[in-house]
Amino acid sequence: MAISWLAALTSLAATYCIMCRTGTVLREGYRTSVFVGRAGLAIPSPMTGTGCRPQTTFRPVPASAAGPIPAKVTDMTTVPGLKDYLATRRSIPAFQMCEPGPGQAEIEEILTLASRVPDHGKLAPWRFIVYRGEERARISAELARLALETKPDLSEEMIKVEHARLTRAPVVVAVISTAAPHAKVPEWEQIMSAGAVCLNLLMAANALGFCSNWLSEWFAFDQRAFPVLGIRDGEKVAGFIHIGSPQVPPTERPRPALSDIVTWVGDDA
Ligand SMILES: Cc1cc2nc3c(=O)[nH]c(=O)nc-3n(C[C@H](O)[C@H](O)[C@H](O)COP(=O)(O)O)c2cc1C
Repeated sequence: MAISWLAALTSLAATYCIMCRTGTVLREGYRTSVFVGRAGLAIPSPMTGTGCRPQTTFRPVPASAAGPIPAKVTDMTTVPGLKDYLATRRSIPAFQMCEPGPGQAEIEEILTLASRVPDHGKLAPWRFIVYRGEERARISAELARLALETKPDLSEEMIKVEHARLTRAPVVVAVISTAAPHAKVPEWEQIMSAGAVCLNLLMAANALGFCSNWLSEWFAFDQRAFPVLGIRDGEKVAGFIHIGSPQVPPTERPRPALSDIVTWVGDDA
């Protein structure tokens, strides 16, 4: 599992360079290494599918976007702040989030950015479910009921936790993997593309001035919860991305040493 997310992260780093090309999508005071979140806290900053999959309709690329890629996208040294953002990017835990979250237009922009990921065969083997408003509490109450079915002796504290599963953040987006057998594209690659969407979604939320957190939790793996959450048969949860404003500044956490995770092949050029 760890390998799949690592692979997804690797492919996504390049994608994000393109997505974030000018820094103009960044708002609310994004500077070289930090951006200021909503709460004022500095935070680090018509093709169709084939095979067994349902067909996917792609939006036509607008004429304005169909020309050559601008030099500033291909010359990454001109992307202001991107390296600093990547060097300091952090999640804020969902339970430390507050209002405001993104509104309709902002969510649509975030999802548009997030869906710009590597996708072998252009299958778009993922989709989003956006939970917001009062529905979050209703669904969370259903999740609490299911949790109590499994463990009738849940503590009062844990019952409260269950009732808050989707209400910690103003907006929660489920990234759903719709990977399915395909004549040319292995399901493994389709699943990794959904992982790429998750990280891209975390970063797209940051780009619009919101904090974000990628969680799965028990209901991502419990089929009983799927109808409650709007997940269809055969689908899998890649992640629940919580989006909001930070109540606290982020703290750094240990990162793996390169020596532990890199195998060098060949010499420095
Ligand atoms: C696929 C996936 C699922 C995760 N699920 C959970 C979870 O259920 N609960 C949790 O506390 N953290 C979970 N995490 C970890 C959180 O995203 C954590 O906040 C994150 O690793 C912080 O790292 P960052 O600051 O570099 O983004 C998950 C991470 C991934 C990649």
